[in-house]
Amino acid sequence: MGKEGLVLVSMFVLGFAGLFGCVLSYDRPPPQRNIYVQLSEDDDSTTPQQVHISMVGSDRMRISWITDSPTPAIVDYGTSPKAYTNSANGTTYSYRYLTYNSGQIHDVVIGPLTPNTVYYYRCSSNSAQEFSFKTTPAKLPIKFAVSGDLGQTGWTKSTLEHISKLDHDMLLLPGDLSYADFYQPLWDSFGRLVQPLASQRPWMVTQGNHEKEKIPLLHGRSFTAYNARWHMPFEESGSTSNLFYSFSVAGVHVIMLGSYADFDPNSEQYKWLQADLGKVDRAKTPWLVAIIHSPWYNSNTAHQGEAESVDMKKYMEDLIYQARVDVVFAGHVHAYERFTRVYQDKPNNCGPVYINIGDGGNREGLANDYIDPKPEISVFREASFGHGQFEVMNATHALWTWHRNDNDEKVTSDSIWLTSLLINSSCHK
Ligand SMILES: [Fe+2]
Repeated sequence: MGKEGLVLVSMFVLGFAGLFGCVLSYDRPPPQRNIYVQLSEDDDSTTPQQVHISMVGSDRMRISWITDSPTPAIVDYGTSPKAYTNSANGTTYSYRYLTYNSGQIHDVVIGPLTPNTVYYYRCSSNSAQEFSFKTTPAKLPIKFAVSGDLGQTGWTKSTLEHISKLDHDMLLLPGDLSYADFYQPLWDSFGRLVQPLASQRPWMVTQGNHEKEKIPLLHGRSFTAYNARWHMPFEESGSTSNLFYSFSVAGVHVIMLGSYADFDPNSEQYKWLQADLGKVDRAKTPWLVAIIHSPWYNSNTAHQGEAESVDMKKYMEDLIYQARVDVVFAGHVHAYERFTRVYQDKPNNCGPVYINIGDGGNREGLANDYIDPKPEISVFREASFGHGQFEVMNATHALWTWHRNDNDEKVTSDSIWLTSLLINSSCHK
């Protein structure tokens, strides 16, 4: 067909679509297989690998890394390259899972640190490799990247590349990290895949179902690899479990809930949540954000009716609503969806905005089917890979944007200004 023919056909197709009010369908990318990130040839058994950091309290950072053979758990750090004015010691741990023996998992908390400052650091006195990170700001504004159900495929790489171009302060991950799914070397591969980002900015994560890895009779404990490799600051927030915790950063209090920890009113998590919400001072942290894995609101046909969604919502929605939580991020469903402010399935100006962002790019692919017709409370829904950006500008205003990984390009697909429930006096109690 000649050029003119193509133009005519294109005009006909576009005209047809316009005539009947339909949008030409977006070509959904297919799932991709796991990629396995190897050690590089220059690395030896003492090379720090899988380096990632997480925030501890307001002015400390946990540095986690793995070596294949025993090395000291020491981090040297300072504010100029190769000039390490401070040093800290930590602990080393390893775990066994079936026939797999983990490497030496090192865990060192450094600080006190100055806000909004670049620090340079090295692990285990390996002077050849220097890492750096930037601490979070002490006050608003702050920019979060948000991405769930990451996995480790080409789509994951694309998501991470887009996030790396954001000038973000912290990554929030609502569960389902590596998709190792019992095969432990994939946890190591995931650690290597995310290291370039996770060694530079704090990654604050909560668990998903793929982290459980319990096998009846063979491995009786859940979350063995997750808890060993992704130690979050639960002790500092008065929690008894790495599966639920909270922290405050700039002017935002973030509550990381555990969809796969007990959540009934007699559970430790429920009591902890009640106590944690009771301590929130909106004068210091005007924004209140909660993160879960299994969404409480979801109009995708995937993952409907699961106890972690239905029962957890039944028990905890009231606590979250009464505390005037501004936003709840979830994962699990491999698609993007944003709801209006909701309480008990109905629009409610004092309820949280619910956002499902389980579209990081894992090997299972996208959840393409939606309940029809779209419920009134669902504002925007699309089954595409991507990530979100939550930029809290000041005590009252935040910009949420969702970016679709369209043909490897970053496309802003949904964008909304959110106002804190603080400024809505009708929501004050
Ligand atoms: Fe999940």
